[in-house]
Amino acid sequence: MKLRVAIAADHGGFALKEELIRRLADSLDIVDKGAKECDTTDDYPDFVELVGHAVGEGEVDRGIVICGSGVGACIAANKMQGVRACVCHDTYSAHQGVEHDDMNVLCLGARVVGVEVATELAVAFLMARFSGEERHIRRLEKVAALERERLSRRENVLNALKDIQEETLDEQGEEAEDVDEAEDLDEADEAEDEVEDELEDEAEDQVEDEAEDEVEDELEDEVEDEAEDGIEDGEEEDDHK
Ligand code: RB5
Repeated sequence: MKLRVAIAADHGGFALKEELIRRLADSLDIVDKGAKECDTTDDYPDFVELVGHAVGEGEVDRGIVICGSGVGACIAANKMQGVRACVCHDTYSAHQGVEHDDMNVLCLGARVVGVEVATELAVAFLMARFSGEERHIRRLEKVAALERERLSRRENVLNALKDIQEETLDEQGEEAEDVDEAEDLDEADEAEDEVEDELEDEAEDQVEDEAEDEVEDELEDEVEDEAEDGIEDGEEEDDHK
């Protein structure tokens, strides 16, 4: 079975990638992750990411990433989980990095090495196997612990941010409830005032009506008295006639 290798490059490494694929395609199962054309405005992390996923998730056995110097590609690749990448421009490092450190991504600088050296570097890297020796495994476990620590710190930061977000949402909810309560109280006060005004108006009307009735009664009484007096006076006059 052929070794599965993902390869990618930005514009700085595009030509070298194409040439390496042409030279190695017969002996490897190569997955080209781009760039598919030389675009001087492209960015190496976009291609390194694809190779990093392919290696980290086991889609391929190894990766090769190429940029102008190999440095940017290397920095980006090592941010990805399960990736152990390094720039190697000498064949000793290219194979020893695999044997001792289980390096799984080779980074090349197309502006630093020519196509012949790059081919030898790729072959040295791809032919090498991890030693499996106890001391190498022990060191790798320590490297993996560093990665776990970084991930758990990241998780802690994310959890802290989540807590802050939840607290803020709770506080906003409580404020909204307070506003509702205040609005309910205002409405109740207004209703109470309206009832009081109505009762006051009714009481005033009643007092006015009663006063009017009293005045009317008094006037009626006066008119009646006057009328009676008139009749009596008439009778008296008749008596004197
Ligand atoms: C692109 O011009 C260049 O900066 C890039 O290929 C790489 O060398 C970065 O490390």
